[in-house]
Amino acid sequence: MTEWCDVIAVADLESGWVTRVRMGTRLIAVYDTPSGIYASLALCNHGGADLCDGYFDGHVIECPLHQGAFDVRDGRPIAPPAPRRMRVFEARVQDGMVQLRL
Ligand code: FES
Repeated sequence: MTEWCDVIAVADLESGWVTRVRMGTRLIAVYDTPSGIYASLALCNHGGADLCDGYFDGHVIECPLHQGAFDVRDGRPIAPPAPRRMRVFEARVQDGMVQLRL
């Protein structure tokens, strides 16, 4: 059973960008996009680079290491060498907090 967890205040997000959040042992990337908040595991599933150090534009995060790219809305890879969907989490905003279903 998964539950909603507070991860960061909306006011603390990098506006229009990606913000790194630590939840226990997991690093999570929280994306502030024109259509809302999305989140994924922060480490790239190709070579383990930190996506929070990548280039973010609209709904696309580009990995800083090999420039693989993912759509943050559903995690699908959109540019090689990204090999498969990245792990994404449901996100919502409640009382000024970003919450993820972890
Ligand atoms: S580590 Fe991200 S594309 Fe290679």
